[in-house]
Amino acid sequence: IPVDPFVLVIFGGTGDLARRKILPALFRRFCDGQMEDNSAIIGAARSDLDTAAYRQMVREAIVEFGQEGGSCEAGTMEAFLETVHYVSIDARGETGWSELAGLLDKLPGEERVRAFYFSVGPSLFGDLAERLHCHGMAGSEARIVVEKPFGHDLGTAKALNKTLAQHFDESQIYRIDHYLGKETVQNLMAIRFANMLFEPLWNAQYIDHIQITVAETVGVAGREDYYDHAGAMRDMVQNHIMQLLCLIAMEPPAKFEPDAVRDEKLKVIRALEDVPAKDIVRGQYLESDDGSKPGFREHVQNPESTTESFIALKLHISNWRWAGTPFYLRTGKRLKSRTSEIAVVFKDAPHSIFGAEAGRHCNILTIVLQPNEGIELGVTIKEPGPGGMRLVDVPLDMTFSEALGPEAEFVPDAYERLIMDVIRGNQTLFMRGDEVEAAWAWTDPIIAEWGAREDTPVAYDSGSSGPVEALALMHRDGRRWREIR
Ligand code: BG6
Repeated sequence: IPVDPFVLVIFGGTGDLARRKILPALFRRFCDGQMEDNSAIIGAARSDLDTAAYRQMVREAIVEFGQEGGSCEAGTMEAFLETVHYVSIDARGETGWSELAGLLDKLPGEERVRAFYFSVGPSLFGDLAERLHCHGMAGSEARIVVEKPFGHDLGTAKALNKTLAQHFDESQIYRIDHYLGKETVQNLMAIRFANMLFEPLWNAQYIDHIQITVAETVGVAGREDYYDHAGAMRDMVQNHIMQLLCLIAMEPPAKFEPDAVRDEKLKVIRALEDVPAKDIVRGQYLESDDGSKPGFREHVQNPESTTESFIALKLHISNWRWAGTPFYLRTGKRLKSRTSEIAVVFKDAPHSIFGAEAGRHCNILTIVLQPNEGIELGVTIKEPGPGGMRLVDVPLDMTFSEALGPEAEFVPDAYERLIMDVIRGNQTLFMRGDEVEAAWAWTDPIIAEWGAREDTPVAYDSGSSGPVEALALMHRDGRRWREIR
């Protein structure tokens, strides 16, 4: 379904995120006929380029990062590039702002949705907002899109919210967490709230525990400085994993509408208990066995670094639904494989009529975010054959591409969905200011405690499942992590 004609200005238009994600996402939406050719994209950055040179950069970025899964006809690239413009701009000075305002005014055609993508570091958010305002571009119809990290802690997040609020209403601000744009993450809500099967069991009475794993094989190359100041807690847990946790744990919102959903997510974050030090394991990856990949400290060129590239923690949500059900979270770099999944582990049946020799069995609902997006439900059945009543666990596999045919094989990138939602004016999959602040309010004391104790992460092997201490975190509760496949 085509969206209304729009003009999207990308500040940081020559940057890594624009090249890898934003521009290829827009191109794929164009190929799919969702972006009309009277829409326009304006790259804005410091580099002294003209539109022709920028179009060439965009073309190269799409060839490098954007083609897979696309079904573009010949000539589509040229038509897409026609919609692309460039303005050289100084976020902190006056250069380029009148040109940008002039270009927006002179684009031919009717009214367009106007959106500004702040694909730059948060230290520039205030300058951009201020200048958009001064140059008359921050009208009540304008939308702004801001990237993570949204602050470094509660204080900086509050300051950012305050700065943006000087010129934009909350309804104009789209705080991106790209995990919310992932197809399976949205499916999580469909599974929970469009099926009668799961929701009645979705509570502490029937669920033993929930585990969320986001394992990556990459290290921190290219982002050493940022990462050494952030660590896995700030980079992944405070935002992406927190969002997954919210969607898993929230009460059913009355409607699939922005504030209804975000109100419920906020309640989850506010109900999170403090996490004692004994329930947290922090790790740093070591050099790879063959020596080809450096260890974390070498990577960030800081032999004293106490930043974690891995974290596992156990937490509790203090409310009626979840009291007593632990949530185990873990994420890390340089692990065995790129696997992200949420596993909802149900309790054992209260009594086995098949006797002790049949073993213990429980149902596990696994929501796989990557690599192969899908949902798997483990059920216990009788092992086929004449050998008596032996039980075996088998998966009911709902890998989307298998169940829904080749159409589902091409899963749109999260940015495609989210950028189109900005144009539609739908904030459901974006974080509200109070949500981000609440997430920091929970994260800050945990990080502060590490500082006070001078906590040092434990080492783990590159290509492993993380530190052994993380395994122990579950073992001591009589549980175990699922294999990182
Ligand atoms: C980013 C983090 O937000 O998400 C990165 O800053 C991380 O460190 C990335 O690698 C993971 O995203 P995805 O979509 O590849 O799981």
